[in-house]
Amino acid sequence: MNIVTKIALGALTLLFIGTSPVSAQEETTDLANGAQLWADTCMRCHNARPPSDLTMRAWSFSMNHMRVRAGLTGEETRDILAFIRASKTENDKQ
Ligand code: HEC
Repeated sequence: MNIVTKIALGALTLLFIGTSPVSAQEETTDLANGAQLWADTCMRCHNARPPSDLTMRAWSFSMNHMRVRAGLTGEETRDILAFIRASKTENDKQ
């Protein structure tokens, strides 16, 4: 690869990173994985509580609790929380 190609690729990469609409939070979470884990895991022991039942603060607290019960990794826990947040309606964003 010659120097001009390298510089062009570098500039393109910077442009891509700079204009990417994905926030740091979304980059580290996977909604589809969260939805799948929610369906597979959270109904093993009890009925699933709808996202509107708890505030995000209460969900975070509860997920720290359920994470231990269900044996989830930190990443899996974050994906499920992202799925819960995305499932809340506009009137229920607390
Ligand atoms: C291994 C069994 C098990 C799994 C898997 C599980 N739960 Fe629970 N969950 C419980 C039990 C038991 C309680 C009742 C509180 C207690 O005694 O710990 C509970 C209570 C709750 C509560 C009530 C508030 C609280 O924190 O006590 C919520 C909300 C909840 N679970 C959500 C979830 C979600 C979301 C998942 C999936 C990530 C999940 N649970 C997976 C066993 C489980």
